[in-house]
Amino acid sequence: MLNIKIEQTTNPKPIPGAENPLVFGTIFTDHMFIMDYVAGQGWIDPRIIPYQPLELMPSTMVFHYGQEMFEGLKAYKNDEGKILLFRPDRNIERANTTNERICIPTIEPEDFLQALKEIVKIDEAWIPTRPGTSLYIRPFIIATDAFLGVRPSNTYKFMIILSPVGAYYPEGLNPVKIWIEDEYVRAVKGGLGEAKAGANYVASMKAQVKAHDAGYSQVLWLDGVERKYIEEVGAMNIFFKIDGKVVTPALNGSILPGVTRQSCIELCRLWGMEVEERKVSADELFEAAQNGTLEEVWGTGTAAVVSPVGNLRKGDVDLKIADGGIGVLSQRLYDTITGIQLGKMEGPEGWSVIVE
Ligand code: COI
Repeated sequence: MLNIKIEQTTNPKPIPGAENPLVFGTIFTDHMFIMDYVAGQGWIDPRIIPYQPLELMPSTMVFHYGQEMFEGLKAYKNDEGKILLFRPDRNIERANTTNERICIPTIEPEDFLQALKEIVKIDEAWIPTRPGTSLYIRPFIIATDAFLGVRPSNTYKFMIILSPVGAYYPEGLNPVKIWIEDEYVRAVKGGLGEAKAGANYVASMKAQVKAHDAGYSQVLWLDGVERKYIEEVGAMNIFFKIDGKVVTPALNGSILPGVTRQSCIELCRLWGMEVEERKVSADELFEAAQNGTLEEVWGTGTAAVVSPVGNLRKGDVDLKIADGGIGVLSQRLYDTITGIQLGKMEGPEGWSVIVE
């Protein structure tokens, strides 16, 4: 159990009111959690302090070699005003898998959960309650040795910051247009693809700019070897409904194991649907679209929740999915997941964690 020191802000910021559209990731709460790691001492000095800038030497390792990881989860308030977290154990487990992969020391899962709960409690007044809003929680770790050689750092900072958010995409629940990228790749097997490391996101930017310039909001990545099989969107995993079956790319080492992805698979199976986790080629999708069996496409992610896809573009071909609107299953998954997150619906055991 952590002994977290708390320094309350003496200068609280105004909490955004109902008129604020809560554009994703633009507003931060009054406090942040920090804990340091020093080789030989472990994780030390857990504290909650006012949200503030960091002071780091220009030689700090994270600036040079990107030894950094992050997570994303959300807090909600139910009708009784209780704070709920959605499957935080999954994020904590994945954080430690990422840590192992990029040589960052792991964090005791109970300590991680305690830190999440404490910081959310301190800033609970910032949890928005309008439909489609939540408090986005961003835990992250940076390498802090002031050193220019390439090796894992001996010191780190683990921080948690909080941001009240609305929809991730300006489109909201309206279908997004997605660009299938066949020039650049995001990740390869054996690389960092299944880790939640900042490095994966910088790898995605060039193609994202290309897609934006062409009028598409996100990039759908193909495998790095054959450039044939669908992987993920970067900010989301991807699902298809083909001829009545739910199909999603199998986790293969270069795809992020999304918490919302897993939740959608479990819900669909609970509802008696067949779910296939397997290789899906872009050609298969285009054929399914041509023969009328591609019924729905949607992305899943913590930030995006369930985001219907209305168009897929590969090369010169733009594929309109079904009638271009939100599909019945995508809507049901969105309603159920947000219903469970908000405590309005009963989810499977352990999905909702009350913060007391
Ligand atoms: C999330 O869904 O929480 C993510 O981390 C995606 C993102 C990069 C905003």
